[in-house]
Amino acid sequence: METRLVTVDPHHPDEQAIAEAAAVIRSGGLVAFPTETVYGLGADALNPSAVQGIFRAKGRPGDNPLIVHLADPGELPAVGVPLPRVEPLARRFWPGPLTLVLPRTPAVPDVTTAGLNTVAVRVPDHPVAVALIRASGCPIAAPSANRSGRPSPTRAAHVWADLHGRIDMILDGGEAGIGLESTVLDLTQNPPVLLRPGGVTVEELEEVIGPIRIHPAAGGMPAAGPVASPGMKYRHYAPATRCVLVEGTPEAVAAHISLRVRQERAAGLRVGVLASREAAAQYDADVVLVGGSRTDPAELGRNLYHGLRELDEAGLDLLFLEGVEATGLGLALMNRMRRAAGYRIERAEDTAVLAGQGEDSGDSRRARTEEDLS
Ligand code: TXA
Ligand code: MG
Repeated sequence: METRLVTVDPHHPDEQAIAEAAAVIRSGGLVAFPTETVYGLGADALNPSAVQGIFRAKGRPGDNPLIVHLADPGELPAVGVPLPRVEPLARRFWPGPLTLVLPRTPAVPDVTTAGLNTVAVRVPDHPVAVALIRASGCPIAAPSANRSGRPSPTRAAHVWADLHGRIDMILDGGEAGIGLESTVLDLTQNPPVLLRPGGVTVEELEEVIGPIRIHPAAGGMPAAGPVASPGMKYRHYAPATRCVLVEGTPEAVAAHISLRVRQERAAGLRVGVLASREAAAQYDADVVLVGGSRTDPAELGRNLYHGLRELDEAGLDLLFLEGVEATGLGLALMNRMRRAAGYRIERAEDTAVLAGQGEDSGDSRRARTEEDLS
């Protein structure tokens, strides 16, 4: 299959391009498009064979349900039951990076919800996404537009790398603004349950609807017991390169990674770090990529997936990630980084123990690449 790549102005998308993309959706095809979170891979949410195509193109397990995207909150009753908490949440956060899990209506086919009797719904805040849904005249089911298991795409080039030849069309509307997927909140339970942290924070949600429960997997640790959101049980957001997340205070994290980099390089490995701007100069790694300031989780979030993809292409044996405080947007960042690391997590306090081993290899430094992603 030829994949057409069409560039559109993210603020004022060309009508002709949107009309062509909408025709693809209506005829049961697949179109990747930008949203404010990440790029989505869209199909007509009410057409079972079109939705089947999403699973095929991504290599996605059939038991992992999709988010249904609407152009307007008023379209909700067609696909989901508007429970009482929807109204205040929609008023505050839609359009935007909040996905609500609700009882579904019979209009939504089984394949879209992976057979669950609930449906995940969101109204994206991106002119291209909204124009495409409107022009298609149907709700659009869209997971992130990556091959299953890969980091989510924040640029059209990432979608192209993962899916060209497997989908009909990519609308290139530039970089996704948030860079992390939407917050997923299950309103079918009382109190509501946070299934995935994202662009809307726990603190913001609680301001509107009071206390919510945070599912253990939402912090990014492996799901124990029954899985509430099928997406939790799959390896996700992961570069192919072995990846280690270091957690602790910023100073301890930087000291720990700096030491571990020297050890691993002394042992002959090629090592990379996705670093904060503040700590980058401390790392004597083969590749150091700056993802943003550690005081600015929004900047770190915007650059995380691009950084993981870049570092994955640098021919490294090992990759270190700096942990951040898991509050606000930091919770979403830590969730993604813990999973990218496959739960290989080191506590920065352990540095004193490590200090005795393999320090100061004294080998001549190889050329070092430093690049700022911001
Ligand atoms: O920001 C986003 O949410 C992006 C853009 C494209 O909108 N989409 C996205 O979709 O991240 P995806 O498929 O990569 O992640 C959807 C998550 C999965 O973890 C899935 O298991 C969960 O939402 N989910 C979908 N329907 C559900 C349901 N009925 N009950 C519980 N979890 C559900
Ligand atoms: Mg995804």
